[in-house]
Amino acid sequence: MSNKTGSCTCNPTEKTSRYSEIDKVIELYKDKRGSLIQILHLAQEIYGHLPLDLQQYIAKSLDIPLSEVSGVVSFYSFFSTKPRGQHTIRVCLGTACYVRGGKKIIEKLSEILGVGLGETTKDGRFTFEIARCIGACGLAPAMMIDNVVYKQVNANKLESILSQY
Ligand code: FES
Repeated sequence: MSNKTGSCTCNPTEKTSRYSEIDKVIELYKDKRGSLIQILHLAQEIYGHLPLDLQQYIAKSLDIPLSEVSGVVSFYSFFSTKPRGQHTIRVCLGTACYVRGGKKIIEKLSEILGVGLGETTKDGRFTFEIARCIGACGLAPAMMIDNVVYKQVNANKLESILSQY
């Protein structure tokens, strides 16, 4: 759990144990060239997201500037500085999906979830994002929840799709 600044508000023991897991990852990869992305990936898996205090910790442990770590975190969309939901919904807004009603899907989902794009629901179940083509153009509009692709999505089917999660 995090506060508005993105720093951890979980109990200190839990935080310490997550940091010690991250220490093991750093120890394993620190001497390998170009391993920063890998370390950040694993740190995000362990911690759930990459708040600033964790980025500072990683930079210090690797003896590199914070700007280098923050630069990578902000460049790649799969890194998040805020806590993410249990599941990630990605609605495709590539050309085929856009012309076949992708925008309508986004509007309806936003209404059902009560959040806008890039946000996470209050109950922490879903993070809501857009994607640019997920390889199902022939059966547009499409969306993904985690790794499952839903094709020919109809706004009326959304509640039943979400109820599976
Ligand atoms: S444009 Fe949506 S799947 Fe390709």
